[in-house]
Amino acid sequence: MSTHYLRDGDVALLQIDNPPVNALDLQVRTDIGMGLRRAGEDPTVKAVVLYGARGSFGAGADIDEIASGVALRSPTLRELQAQIEALGKPVVAAIDGVALGGSFELALACHARIAAPAAHLGLPEVKLGLIPGSGGTQRFTRLAGPAAALEVISAGQPVPAARALSLGVIDATVAEPVRAAHERGLRLAAAGPLPLPAHARTDKIRTLAPDLFTRWRAAHAHAYRGQLAPWRVVDAIEAACTLPAEEAFKLERQYYLECRASAQREALMHVFHAERAARRIPGLGAHVRPLPIERAGIVGAGMMGTGIAMCLAAAGIEVALLDVSPPALAAGLARIGGLYDESVARGKLTDAQAAAARSRIRGVSDYAALAQVDIAIEAVFEDPVLKGEVFAQLDRCTPARAILASNTSTLDIDRLAACTARAEQVVGTHFFSPAHIMKLMENVRGRASSPETLATVMALARRLGKIPVLAGNCDGFIGNRMLHFYGVEAERLLEEGATPEQIDAVIEEFGFAMGPLAMRDLAGNDVGWAIRRNRVLPADERCSPILERMVAAGRLGRKCGRGFYRYEGGRRHSDPEALALIRAVADELGIRQRSIGAQEILARLLHPLVNEGARVLAEGIAARPGDIDVVYVYGYGFPAFRGGPMYWAERSGLDAVVATLEGLAPSHGERWRPCALLRAAAAAGAWSRAGT
Ligand code: COA
Repeated sequence: MSTHYLRDGDVALLQIDNPPVNALDLQVRTDIGMGLRRAGEDPTVKAVVLYGARGSFGAGADIDEIASGVALRSPTLRELQAQIEALGKPVVAAIDGVALGGSFELALACHARIAAPAAHLGLPEVKLGLIPGSGGTQRFTRLAGPAAALEVISAGQPVPAARALSLGVIDATVAEPVRAAHERGLRLAAAGPLPLPAHARTDKIRTLAPDLFTRWRAAHAHAYRGQLAPWRVVDAIEAACTLPAEEAFKLERQYYLECRASAQREALMHVFHAERAARRIPGLGAHVRPLPIERAGIVGAGMMGTGIAMCLAAAGIEVALLDVSPPALAAGLARIGGLYDESVARGKLTDAQAAAARSRIRGVSDYAALAQVDIAIEAVFEDPVLKGEVFAQLDRCTPARAILASNTSTLDIDRLAACTARAEQVVGTHFFSPAHIMKLMENVRGRASSPETLATVMALARRLGKIPVLAGNCDGFIGNRMLHFYGVEAERLLEEGATPEQIDAVIEEFGFAMGPLAMRDLAGNDVGWAIRRNRVLPADERCSPILERMVAAGRLGRKCGRGFYRYEGGRRHSDPEALALIRAVADELGIRQRSIGAQEILARLLHPLVNEGARVLAEGIAARPGDIDVVYVYGYGFPAFRGGPMYWAERSGLDAVVATLEGLAPSHGERWRPCALLRAAAAAGAWSRAGT
């Protein structure tokens, strides 16, 4: 039994109890259907309260049932909703924890909804490449109006109970929703006719702001490019406002089925599962417990250090932010203050929340201030000597139990560990910039990192709201190691005649937020060049001199208004001077420039990424192909609806990857030749069949 039928006086309580997240699988739906029937047939039952066990209403439809591709078996969610609406007795949803997707759709069909103040409600289907398929777009729009529906459903982001109340999709927030729902149910039963069900409400859809949908589509055309589900969300909401209810509900269903059958839905569900699988470290027993983290030290008050400090403070951790340079410390603290002010101005944090978080960050300039920390995270300039000195200091000044972590994006964790007498407590915690926003945390396992140390940084990431992936120790770990080949190839394409606009357009059309050259300009060409200059390449490989020439010409990127592009008013423009610089390099190298098609550009940029991904797997730097996908989706802007580079390669054909690399290797070097694992996967047609 995964739904319990209980009685409390004149009220029947239906408790959904399906661990871990109360998903609405067939058994739950069957039990709810039986419970509703029983309550309907029992004359002593005046009202029904529907709620979830273990403090949460439910996470919606069963994702695995959707992924199975089999038509949903009866009773479907839509049948249960019809049953509620025809019951003739009030059914009230009492919402604790979360009510997401199908669970929220079930609640939307109830006669009233009462939520705990800390509850979150939402329709996140779009994040899985779907739209709500059981009247969610229809009932939400009728209760909250189309403008709110567009904003909430197309983002897929659950809203806190207070917001849901102000939008009109719930009726009250109270500390004990089950008890309040009980009272509300009896009151509704006594009051006579039941409230109009959400599907019959028209008050919020009667008058439409002119051009609402046209304007929304135009404003989001860039963000939605290449995707199916967000467009269908807009179509379904428009249908709710413009078509008779029955037709609009039917259309929503049709759109849902279209999305469910799409490759994008499959890719996004792959990312969902990969993200969860990445939390599990092979060989790390369940008995290994993370160590408690209540106090942290961050060394370096630059961009990364301040962002990391804010992440920790938001999670309730006391932070000592250390910088030995007083002006740098003052600038870092001012930056933090500015970011909190901005969050308050944007309504992301209340004054009280911002003040509480800010009060947890203390600026310090002496290592002695780190005498009580549980973890110290080093975020100083990417220089191995400097970082080594910081680690030696940390080893002297922090408690013996403290974990020492480095935010390095490329450097050898074992060399840093060797600067301490506690190598087993040394680990990498690579945050992405801006650290208080970017979701990925690439944790790096040193040769000696202990199981407790690894478990602690993986748990810390989750506490910070980040998505952790564990990487092995090598130059660039998973993400930056692979990125090298992508960046190098972008410049080789420039030499051969592709323009920066062309290259970036292909990648942006594919779904990345930014192409590789716009990205270089954003990060700073001097920064890119400094990293490249330190890299020792095999004798048969060369990097294009274009990047170095850009730096020598003072074209450092966005920060100085010129780089691969010219920047004006925050927008990038093609720059004849940059093109001339590129052409001069091609002439010097004796390369005859030609016109290069979009397909070739895409293949040449993404296929080398996949080859290096395969090497990363073969060497055990990543535990699973899905871990690499998670790194690229959450750290590098790879479009989630394409599933990440390894998933994309498998779906679009590993043979093609092998062929592209065979073509590049003679001019690019041995490392560009398809590795054994990639060849095996191509022969078998899947990573999993090649022993990964
Ligand atoms: N159907 C089936 N399984 C689900 C599920 C769903 N709707 N939602 C979560 N799960 C599973 C997860 O895969 C995970 O399984 P695992 O432990 O085998 O990896 C387990 O439940 C716990 O989920 P997790 O995300 O790790 O827990 P959490 O406490 O961090 O987050 C939720 C809980 C509900 C907020 C989160 O799981 C979520 O957002 N789920 C998806 C909701 C959704 O999109 N619903 C619409 C479905 S169409």
